[in-house]
This record gives sequence, structure tokens and C-alpha cells, in this order.
Amino acid sequence: MGKIIAIANQKGGVGKTTTSINLAACLGVLEKKVLLIDADPQANASSGLGIDVASVEIGTYQVLEHTIAAENAIVKTSSPNLDIIPAHIDLVAIEIELVDKPEREYMLKKALTSLKDSYDYILIDCAPSLGLITLNSLVAADSVMIPIQCEYFALEGLGKLLNTIKSIQNIHNKDLEIEGLLLTMFDSRLRLSNQVVDEVRKHFSIMVFETIIRRNIRLSEAPSYGESIIAYDATSKGAVNYLNLAQELIKKNL
Ligand SMILES: Nc1ncnc2c1ncn2[C@@H]1O[C@H](COP(=O)(O)OP(=O)(O)OP(=O)(O)O)[C@@H](O)[C@H]1O
Ligand SMILES: [Mg+2]
Repeated sequence: MGKIIAIANQKGGVGKTTTSINLAACLGVLEKKVLLIDADPQANASSGLGIDVASVEIGTYQVLEHTIAAENAIVKTSSPNLDIIPAHIDLVAIEIELVDKPEREYMLKKALTSLKDSYDYILIDCAPSLGLITLNSLVAADSVMIPIQCEYFALEGLGKLLNTIKSIQNIHNKDLEIEGLLLTMFDSRLRLSNQVVDEVRKHFSIMVFETIIRRNIRLSEAPSYGESIIAYDATSKGAVNYLNLAQELIKKNL
């Protein structure tokens, strides 16, 4: 049975999409079958994997509104063992469209039931919001991975996210686990970066992944070529960091 992991933090620009794309690609390289779902109207995960976002006609929107079976929204990527359900800017309208539906938080969960057995991992790249699309992602997920940027205000909003997770556990998805907090954009030269690592580890101890993602320019260049870090520069620090993360995740889930 596949595991569904939502990559979420309502704080913007913390590395959710970079992690989604590159963790997904690395799991694929390690011979896991992976589906990445782009659940952000910005569609950065889709374009980052080489999809022409303007021409997306079938994607997360149609899957969420149940007008198409999730199977039929899947697109193969050039990365080994990695498929994607892409997004389009129109996805933003689903928030309004679902609002009156009685089962509005369960649309994604229901849509993914038939797919779960076809993959080892299904990763969901969430938008920087706690709106209905993110709620759907957290209700559908078995666990949530929370990227934390090693920067000023790293923990800002984290309390709200943890409260949201708690209320989802109480109301919609009692089995939702926290897969882990992931420290991203670490710069060893900065005292601040080191302070954030210490603080997060002190507060959350074993909830924090051992692997730390360093700031690496190659990671920020790769999406403009529509490639994962593995395809773009397999020897870069970024590639090594995300391969380590994929291995740590696999080991945790043996
Ligand atoms: N480890 C890293 N090293 C260098 N640049 C990075 C790294 N991680 C992310 N970035 C860059 O930081 C920016 C924000 O990253 P990303 O898009 O992954 O964050 P996000 O949380 O998905 O943002 P949003 O909240 O807008 O969806 C991007 O330009 C990305 O290329
Ligand atoms: Mg993003």
C-alpha cells in the first residue's frame, strides 16, 4: 500500500516545492514508484518538472471536483519512476467551487483511493495557505512533512499549522502523522542558520529529519530547465542532500 505524504507549510517560500520535486525524483531513482500531486495554483511543481503549465487541461482541479478519475489525470515525467498530476492557475477557483459541497474536505481522499496501490509514495506539494485545497491534502494524507527554512522567523506560523493538524486529526483523519520537520536552505556560514537548527532540534527533537537541506544554487537553477536536481546536476550538494533525505524516509518507513 502506498504512503501519501503532504508537504505543507502555509509560510511561503520555505522549500515545499523544491522538496516535493527533488524528493520525488530521488525516491524514483531509488526504484520507488512515485506520484507527485501539484496542489498549488502557482503550479511550480508542474513547471519545475518540465510541464507546459499553460496547456494543462486535465489536472488537480478536475481530480478535486471529481469530473475525472485521478488515473486519467496522470502524466509521466522524464524522471525515472515519477508520474505527476499537474496543476494550472485555474486551480485557485476550486476553493470557491467546493465550498457548498457536503464532503468538501474529502474530495482528494476519495479520488486517490483507487490509486494508492499503484505507487509506493504519493507526495502532495501544498500551496502556502491553509485553505480548502491544503485541507483536502491533509485529509487525504497518511503523514505530513513540514519544511522549515533556516532563516529569520523560521517558526512563524508553525503553531498554527500544528493546531490545524491537530484539528484534522480530531475531526477528519485520526491517523494523520507528522512524518517530520525538514530543515531547508541551511547555510553553515551563517550563525543564524545554526541557531535555527539548534532551536528546532531542541523543541522538536526526534520529529526533525537528520538530513538537512543546504542552500545550493543548483537547486534554484534546476526548475528553469524543467529538471529535477538529479537530472540537472547529480553531483551537486543539493542532489546529495535530497538523495539522503529519500534514503532516510525509506528507512523510516521500512
Ligand atoms: N536548498 C535550497 N538552496 C537554494 N535555493 C533554494 C533551496 N530551496 C529552495 N530554494 C529556492 O527558494 C525559493 C523558494 O523555494 P520553493 O519554491 O521550493 O518554496 P515553496 O515553499 O514551495 O514556496 P511557495 O510557498 O511559494 O509554494 C525558490 O526560488 C527555490 O528555488
Ligand atoms: Mg511551492
